[in-house]
Amino acid sequence: MGTLRNILKKITHPFLKRGMAYYYRKPRPYSYQGITTTVHPDVFPPHLTLSTKILLDFISDIQLTQKTFLELGCGSGIISLYASQKGANVTASDINKTALAYLTKASEENNLPVRCVYSNLFEELQGNHFDYIIINPPYYPKSPENIKQQAWFCGEGFEYFEALFQQLPSYLSKENTTYMILSEDCELTKIKEIASKNNISMELVYKTKKAGEKNFIFSLS
Ligand SMILES: C[S@@+](CC[C@H](N)C(=O)[O-])C[C@H]1O[C@@H](n2cnc3c(N)ncnc32)[C@H](O)[C@@H]1O
Repeated sequence: MGTLRNILKKITHPFLKRGMAYYYRKPRPYSYQGITTTVHPDVFPPHLTLSTKILLDFISDIQLTQKTFLELGCGSGIISLYASQKGANVTASDINKTALAYLTKASEENNLPVRCVYSNLFEELQGNHFDYIIINPPYYPKSPENIKQQAWFCGEGFEYFEALFQQLPSYLSKENTTYMILSEDCELTKIKEIASKNNISMELVYKTKKAGEKNFIFSLS
């Protein structure tokens, strides 16, 4: 089955790519639970990808009232807006300035407060405590050539994960819960190895198969 899926992926991939490029040639609205945001072409698209929706559904069961919540690498910020709707005190960070500008506007339009911070990983968040941290990381091992690709590519040498797992331990504690979503498409063994090297354990807490692709949510501690 895995092989068949891979073959199908190879065949359809260029068409998917072209279809996605056409769809995302202009800003597109995205809605969840009555919240609407606009996604710029340079920002990670939650419409045709699975991970954002899986995380949204996953956090729907979590009691977030008055919890401090960080979406590290927020993209469209729909997860941040939803956490805010659920009563969390939300920080959304990214290195994509367009994403942050659009999220600031969506936060005002939906009347859902979100603190938007331009930050390379935790650089501008030092000293902050978060009850919850949610990460949907870029995971393909390739060097990003522009801001749009930063949403997908973690660097040939997994530089994103090397830096993330070096910085993350300062934010992990008994009072904190950190969730990261990964797919069967990424090099799970390599990512777990980098985590382990930094004394971070990854416990699988949720898995789902959608559109033939397995996705996993890990709790990091
Ligand atoms: C896969 S997207 C996820 C977006 C959003 N969290 C979601 O689930 O829809 C990854 C996001 O991480 C951001 N990102 C990549 N490298 C980053 C870094 N070093 N620091 C902060 N954000 C980063 C990208 O710009 C992108 O918005």
